[in-house]
Amino acid sequence: MLRLNDLIKINYLPQVSNQALLPKNAIYVLSRFISMRMNEENLEVESVITNAKITLMHTIANNLIFQLRRPCTMHNLDADIDQILLQQFIKILYLIGIITYRDENNNPHDEVQHNLLQWEWHDLVFHQKSRKSRADAPHGGTFRFKEMIKPLKNLKSPMASESIKLPSMNIKKIDKDLPFQVVLNQRRSRREPVEKSLPLPILAEFLQRACEIQVIHTDQIYENTQRRYPSGGGIHELEIYFYAQSVTDLTPAIYHYLPLEHALEKLDIGEPNLLPHFVKSYQVASANAGVPHVLFAITARFNRVNWKYSEMAYALILKNVGVLYQTFYLVATAMNLRPCAIGSGSSRLFSDLINLSHFDESVVGEFILSA
Ligand SMILES: Cc1cc2nc3c(=O)[nH]c(=O)nc-3n(C[C@H](O)[C@H](O)[C@H](O)COP(=O)(O)O)c2cc1C
Repeated sequence: MLRLNDLIKINYLPQVSNQALLPKNAIYVLSRFISMRMNEENLEVESVITNAKITLMHTIANNLIFQLRRPCTMHNLDADIDQILLQQFIKILYLIGIITYRDENNNPHDEVQHNLLQWEWHDLVFHQKSRKSRADAPHGGTFRFKEMIKPLKNLKSPMASESIKLPSMNIKKIDKDLPFQVVLNQRRSRREPVEKSLPLPILAEFLQRACEIQVIHTDQIYENTQRRYPSGGGIHELEIYFYAQSVTDLTPAIYHYLPLEHALEKLDIGEPNLLPHFVKSYQVASANAGVPHVLFAITARFNRVNWKYSEMAYALILKNVGVLYQTFYLVATAMNLRPCAIGSGSSRLFSDLINLSHFDESVVGEFILSA
């Protein structure tokens, strides 16, 4: 005779608070907040809400899960098992958050109970998975690939045969900056240019003040740098690219900033027909406020961070993007420029544009700058 253990194996059972009695004749349905993936030859089902994880060990379990994609009562379920086992199966799935039931307003009970109606699945997965998930799970700077893979170097290999050296900033002028609190007070998002174009020396100063490397350490467990913006672990995995739409003395093209040499690489565009779509996406995201002089695309070299961190690598990268955004805003304000962060865009478009290997490095943030 089949037992619950023959149907499912519980891989991880957190403390579940879902002890409420199931209503009679409840209409069950799979929770919107589950994920399923292969574990060797079996399907593994995980609740994003409770973190509980089970493996489906029998085709009857697979089949029941399939039926539960649509709301149904226990009586509607078609399974060749006795009622007691079916009840046990439903109860455990309910307790660990894999199924829920429809409440009197036809809403999924788990979403009402935890106030999840406004959450999208991917946001909840990301939130749950990038924070410390379980007491026994490795989390944080674990150096998980230390024995297997060499860490990537801090600087990318050259992307062009030549580089364009940029003028260095005038320290005296910087002494005349507005006081720091005035910069903070005056910082605003400004989307539309007021001048015809941005002079190259001004762009050079902006880049140098915001992102050049001050110190590079190449003799440590992994290469890290000191720059004017902080970065988790000093990894500084973000790369700065921009499309110079209206910069005096700079041909409109995509450039890569070299933060150690304070120089630019002019990049070949792999698919020129994508360029207008790229430019348009910035205009749409900034409510068609104008044609910005410089369109930044900030990428991350993911494996620089993945190499060191468990569970939180991508979350850390996005935090670093926020840090860079604020540094861009403050430097631009101090220089009386017009900055604005852009919060959405297509990473794939930029990868295709300059032939980036998308999962090695792709866009995690955008920014516009004008004079
Ligand atoms: C992470 C982030 C994303 C943003 N995304 C956009 C955007 O896509 N388009 C836009 O026009 N402004 C964007 N902004 C600018 C905000 O709209 C702006 O900061 C907000 O309205 C407050 O105005 P202030 O920056 O002038 O103080 C973004 C700002 C941040 C910090």
